[in-house]
Amino acid sequence: MHRRDFLLSIAVALASASAYSFGEGLKPLLLKASDKTAILYGTRYGASKDTAMWIAKGIGSQVDVLNIEELNFSQILKKYDKFIIGSGIWIDGPHKRLTKLLSEHSTEMEAKIVASFIVCGTRGDNEAGRARIAGYFERLHKPLQKAPLAQEQFGGRLIIEKLSEKDRKLLDNFYTNVLKKEFKSWDRTNPKGAEKFGSTLLLNA
Ligand SMILES: Cc1cc2nc3c(=O)[nH]c(=O)nc-3n(C[C@H](O)[C@H](O)[C@H](O)COP(=O)(O)O)c2cc1C
Repeated sequence: MHRRDFLLSIAVALASASAYSFGEGLKPLLLKASDKTAILYGTRYGASKDTAMWIAKGIGSQVDVLNIEELNFSQILKKYDKFIIGSGIWIDGPHKRLTKLLSEHSTEMEAKIVASFIVCGTRGDNEAGRARIAGYFERLHKPLQKAPLAQEQFGGRLIIEKLSEKDRKLLDNFYTNVLKKEFKSWDRTNPKGAEKFGSTLLLNA
């Protein structure tokens, strides 16, 4: 770990400990209200977009929430000081255009990314789930030398009627033959949790 990162991780740990001890007094030193900040999300069915909007609400200051499929890489790199990146997970990992942005502009992005999040079906309530989620983060962060200091996983949703025919067939097969569970819709999105995560990102100066 570089000296700067080491010092920053201590600052974050101290700020978190203080926030824990003294309520909302201190928050991690990640975003300033004056930073031009964008949340870049990759979605197929909307839960990652919703989660990005809830995180933005929790941050509370001006934050642009942008779909990775609709933006120009060089324009956003020029325009913003800080980024939060987030993606849904679909069998083969996070959104390809987001990992492309990170691969093609890793140095510039790395200096500006303060946090990342993933939205998926895997729950983090047991060892196997936590290992799978760690693997998803690894795939998202692979193009970077170091992972962002703040990371969070959120539940997503699966609404069978909204799936493309290809995704529906694939998941029907996966639930029936691999998981051996009934294939039915679910919604584990977490508006309050995402808002709370956002609220920990802004320096309360
Ligand atoms: C085709 C497909 C594949 C999926 N594969 C996984 C997976 O491998 N692991 C997982 O935890 N969740 C998986 N999920 C659940 C999604 O991560 C969840 O539906 C999430 O809400 C997707 O984000 P989005 O709503 O922004 O598209 C999958 C969902 C779909 C539709």
